[in-house]
Amino acid sequence: MLNFNFYNPTEIFFGEGQIAEITKAIPSEAKVLVVYGGGSIHKNGIYEQVSAALSEFNWGEFAGIEPNPTYQTCMQAVEKIKAEEFNYILAVGGGSVIDGSKFIAAAANFEGEPWDILSKGAEVKSALPIGVVLTLPATGSESNSFSVVSNSETHDKLPFASILVQPKFAVLDPKVMETLPTRQLTNGVVDAFVHTMEQYLTYPVDAKVQDRFAEGLLMTLMEEGPKLLSDDVDYKTRANVMWSATMALNGLIGAGVPQDWATHMIGHEITAVYGLDHAQTLAIILPRMMLEQKEHKREKLLQYAERVLGLDISDEEQAIASAIEMTEQFFHRVDMKTRLSDYGVDEEAVDKITDQLERHGMTALGEQQAVTLDKSRQIIAASL
Ligand code: NZQ
Ligand code: ZN
Repeated sequence: MLNFNFYNPTEIFFGEGQIAEITKAIPSEAKVLVVYGGGSIHKNGIYEQVSAALSEFNWGEFAGIEPNPTYQTCMQAVEKIKAEEFNYILAVGGGSVIDGSKFIAAAANFEGEPWDILSKGAEVKSALPIGVVLTLPATGSESNSFSVVSNSETHDKLPFASILVQPKFAVLDPKVMETLPTRQLTNGVVDAFVHTMEQYLTYPVDAKVQDRFAEGLLMTLMEEGPKLLSDDVDYKTRANVMWSATMALNGLIGAGVPQDWATHMIGHEITAVYGLDHAQTLAIILPRMMLEQKEHKREKLLQYAERVLGLDISDEEQAIASAIEMTEQFFHRVDMKTRLSDYGVDEEAVDKITDQLERHGMTALGEQQAVTLDKSRQIIAASL
């Protein structure tokens, strides 16, 4: 096992009715800016629950954070914060609202041009505190320190990380999933699955706990994910998927193990250029990444085949081929497409996405830096 520091300071309130807990979780003297997206929270009762919980607080709101949050929209919230002296952010939404809120929290206290946090890795020295009411289980953003923000003018989609923007608390009420459209349920299952794979499907370092936790998450998502799309989906299924998505990217399974993230880096470029949903890009790239990297990932691929998929691995080549095929089939079982052409993206994407990767210095991706620009090009071409 590799050395690691593990620290996750986000308090989780899990279960039905837990939105009311924000009354106790936010300091009573705070001036709270509630940040949300395009308005789904007005249609499903979440806004009412949040306003009831904040009834004794001094608070205001900023709506309109879009999927794949933009720097431009976030900066409008920063202006509001400065003008009206808010000192606490409550993000109510999915990964986009949470990521946007993290950037807003850092930008509000930043001296200089906040875009530098994303484009130049400028250090975040201070940030407003953030609380979260999660409405879409997918990204794990509710209890990690990562954020991904896009620039609508330059077509950059860039990440930053700072412990200072990690949420103080996150409310996870599986009931909020009742109003999620199939597309977002699908996105959530696939994103959580691929997060787990990015931290599991590398090379072995004898990290038995991390491996078995990761395998538990993969198996849970494969078992419960498809049930989310059925008519008789129940609270138990929603709860299991919601908790899996948080656990997939809260630092625990990634501590002390090598991490990949090549699929994500290529995926971010596809979203930046073609606007596909984040998880849609992952389902396209991952199967091709597994195939291209199968020698580097051989031992873990076989472990995945045997332990997660229950395959006989005596014929190793066959087992690896089946494991990759079953992964893609799982994406289909949750109604996810797995080809660029399914979204009308044609071969011009091969050059465009490769150029984007080069521009962002993504020329040696993966746990062994084995995904060179040339390999990325091949993976994208194989994903058409
Ligand atoms: O904006 P509203 O009206 O709220 O609608 C949203 C949005 O249109 C809707 N929605 C959310 N909760 C709902 C709901 N609709 C009905 N009922 C509800 N309960 O869903 C749509 C998509 O929301 P979004 O937040 O964009 O989705 P997701 O949670 O998948 O977040 C994706 C973003 O997170 C980033 C992605 O790159 C992408 O920008 N990621 C963040 C990560 C992190 N911070 O750790 C890691 C990930 O790998 C990922 O990169
Ligand atoms: Zn992701």
